[in-house]
Amino acid sequence: MKGIVLAGGLGTRLRPLTAVTNKHLLPVYDRPMVYYPIETLVNAGVRDIMIVTGGNSAGDFLRLLKNGREFGLRHLNYTYQEGEGGIAAALSLCEEFADGQPVCVVLGDNIIERNICRAVRSYRHQGGGAKILLKKVQDPQRFGVPELDGRRVVRIEEKPEEPKSEYAVIGVYMYDSDVFEIIKTLKPSGRGELEITDVNNAYIGRGEMTWDELEGWWTDAGTFESLLRASNLVAETGANKMDD
Ligand code: G1P
Repeated sequence: MKGIVLAGGLGTRLRPLTAVTNKHLLPVYDRPMVYYPIETLVNAGVRDIMIVTGGNSAGDFLRLLKNGREFGLRHLNYTYQEGEGGIAAALSLCEEFADGQPVCVVLGDNIIERNICRAVRSYRHQGGGAKILLKKVQDPQRFGVPELDGRRVVRIEEKPEEPKSEYAVIGVYMYDSDVFEIIKTLKPSGRGELEITDVNNAYIGRGEMTWDELEGWWTDAGTFESLLRASNLVAETGANKMDD
């Protein structure tokens, strides 16, 4: 399985912090934000990783991360997303990198307390299709929200005014190589982006989507409130823990 960290975008919700630098280079307690999703993948045994960047300071990723030695890696891959095409558009840049293998995609501003080892193991046994991870949150309307029927996901709605569950779809997604064909069929949403939620709904439509509930805390870090919360959570308990 290959790993992809999506670290592009303009970070408009964090201006002026992102006026001259990339959101994923901002500090979350004692490390730059992008360290956390990379560590999440490495801890799950994923060693072939692509960083998709774009917008401001793209070159700084290379200066910061180099070949990933700090993470125990021998090599890192980089690509560049022009403009603000959305998460699915960023992912589409990785088709050659994936080379027919399944991928684990982590959004560059998603930080977790523990690890995704169990979910990656169960996805490997699933033998194709997709898997998402869910977490109960206080403010589901900020996220992709699943409608559930027992173990089945019926549909995911992006930032719904009236959420159909208390869960958020967190920014960790596992897909087989069909994901790239699915992205080619997508049309831009109301906010002009190719939405990852539309990719997930396509897998749901095929009956090929499973979900697990993430253990430990999860947060994004793309707003002032969530960036502060992320720093506080990391300071209090640490992130990417392997104790299970
Ligand atoms: C994105 C996804 C959303 C998901 C969230 C997780 O939202 O579109 O479905 O729940 O990441 O962090 P965004 O951060 O682009 O608003």
